[in-house]
Amino acid sequence: MILPAEGETHLWWAFPDRIHDPELLERQFATLSAEERERQRRFVSERDRKRYLVSHALVRHALSQYASVPPREWQFELNPYGRPSIREPAAWRSLQFNLSHTEGRAVVAVAWEMDIGVDVESTAPERDLAEIAERYFSPIEIAQLRKKPEAFFDFWTLKEAYIKARGMGLSIPLDSFSFLLEDAEEPRILFHEGCPDRPDRWRFALRRGDGYRVAVAAAVGTKPLRIIERETVPLEESPAARDT
Ligand SMILES: CC(C)(COP(=O)(O)OP(=O)(O)OC[C@H]1O[C@@H](n2cnc3c(N)ncnc32)[C@H](O)[C@@H]1OP(=O)(O)O)[C@@H](O)C(=O)NCCC(=O)NCCS
Repeated sequence: MILPAEGETHLWWAFPDRIHDPELLERQFATLSAEERERQRRFVSERDRKRYLVSHALVRHALSQYASVPPREWQFELNPYGRPSIREPAAWRSLQFNLSHTEGRAVVAVAWEMDIGVDVESTAPERDLAEIAERYFSPIEIAQLRKKPEAFFDFWTLKEAYIKARGMGLSIPLDSFSFLLEDAEEPRILFHEGCPDRPDRWRFALRRGDGYRVAVAAAVGTKPLRIIERETVPLEESPAARDT
């Protein structure tokens, strides 16, 4: 697989609930590190254990599409906020990735020498969305939501994708930046006190799928952001590309 070009983000999708073959799951498990196995064991429900397993096998499988490094040989390190990145092989440290998972689906975003973040959320209405918005969103976003409540998950995933691209977790207050969602336009970001950053560093992509929303944040500058999506079964097949 050719490395992501400048301005390109590759999204690799996997669907844990569709994987039932015990031999394949065993192969995926064999790629995990001792720490990942330990974390996986701690999930109480079988479904959560499988989601963790498939998501982490997906990261390894996706990275191995770009380099002749077997999935089990990638070693990761965490920054102080828990963001993983490649430690070994050191020659591949410019390969940036970010993982997100939700009910029934996992996605890993991959780019070359570019900060990226991805967030996928199930849009099944099980939570009090208005309360979450009041608690976490900025006044500018809350005002937009009053006119367009169906945009809740647009804001949520965009905010998470940006936070994840910065890799600093919730040390960036969620109301210290705002997204502007104007119809038919790419989402734009504004920064407030508490979040020193430049809007022209970033571009964002938002996809509204059936039952889920996904957002990508990429430090691509003013160049266009191109997203290429692929579905895969980690450790099983050669994935087919879908350019979007
Ligand atoms: C942990 C956090 C990074 C993402 O959490 P999340 O949306 O629940 O989870 P996602 O599935 O999108 O991402 C999890 C993955 O991100 C990666 N990750 C962990 N810390 C990270 C960080 N600081 N920066 C970027 N990525 C990180 C890991 O690969 C993690 O996978 P793992 O837990 O299986 O090891 C953090 O932003 C958080 O806690 N968010 C919740 C904030 C919130 O309450 N938002 C409400 C409305 S906006």
